[in-house]
Amino acid sequence: MSKRLETPSNIWITGAGSGIGEATARSLLDLGHRLVLTGRRREPLDAIQAISQDRVTVAPADITDQLQLRSIAPQLESHGDLNMVILNAGTCEYLDVRHYSSDVIANNLQINVVGTARCLDIALPALRRTRAKGQPATLVIVSSSAWWFPFGRAEGYGASKAALSYFAHSLRADLAAEGIDVVVVSPGFVKTPLTDRNDFPMPFLVTAEDAANRIVNGLAHGRREIAFPKRFTWTLRLLGALPRSIIDRMSAAMARQSDHSQDVPK
Ligand SMILES: NC(=O)c1ccc[n+]([C@@H]2O[C@H](COP(=O)([O-])OP(=O)(O)OC[C@H]3O[C@@H](n4cnc5c(N)ncnc54)[C@H](OP(=O)(O)O)[C@@H]3O)[C@@H](O)[C@H]2O)c1
Repeated sequence: MSKRLETPSNIWITGAGSGIGEATARSLLDLGHRLVLTGRRREPLDAIQAISQDRVTVAPADITDQLQLRSIAPQLESHGDLNMVILNAGTCEYLDVRHYSSDVIANNLQINVVGTARCLDIALPALRRTRAKGQPATLVIVSSSAWWFPFGRAEGYGASKAALSYFAHSLRADLAAEGIDVVVVSPGFVKTPLTDRNDFPMPFLVTAEDAANRIVNGLAHGRREIAFPKRFTWTLRLLGALPRSIIDRMSAAMARQSDHSQDVPK
């Protein structure tokens, strides 16, 4: 039986000011946990802190900036030993291949992969101090199911999430000996400010609150892989298991059909 979230835990969440991060923060707060919240904008983090001044610490920072991260490092343990880190901050920029720009690829990779990796500069030492006291320590990385199938326009976003999932699974192998759990979250479409910009139909769209419930329940049940909604992720898995020649034909047809808009789960 999982011991995660059984007792009030100290949790750092990035990208906590909106969408999945905000809903997860609010859900964890309802359950009595103590939080450290990060994002670039301070105001949305302050709004969550207003719910419980003594159980929420606001630590604004850009996750791609090592100096800013270093400056908030002491705050990660402001409520005591750090039990869990949820690295959720991310972006999604689509590529218009007719006006190809490698900046789109770089921007996705910089925030989603490099930014997440930089968070570990300050999170890992804190999680190790917790483990040294014999307490459970969990690292949660919010990736995506987008990269399981090659969607048009998602060259940068999909590549960043494929890299992020590999990064997380490789870390899981290396950190197993230290007893630090690594959890990978792979959502389908979730209604958030990120997807509100999409001008195409998003199948099996769930609310941010629904996503947060699935994440928190999965964590409490000791899961290491949390993918939802099932109907969507299983469809993607099945499509991804087809022979490459069929996948290529399907994804090229989808890209042609949608011309400029493509159903890409962020
Ligand atoms: N929505 C979906 O359908 C979906 C599907 C699969 C995966 N995901 C993933 O879920 C995560 C959350 O996305 P969301 O949909 O909830 O989007 P969102 O509402 O835009 O949340 C992203 C958060 O990340 C923060 N952020 C972005 N860049 C940052 C940076 N450089 N430093 C610090 N914080 C930064 C933003 O706050 P500031 O602007 O204040 O920094 C924002 O609060 C992302 O990793 C996304 O890829 C989303």
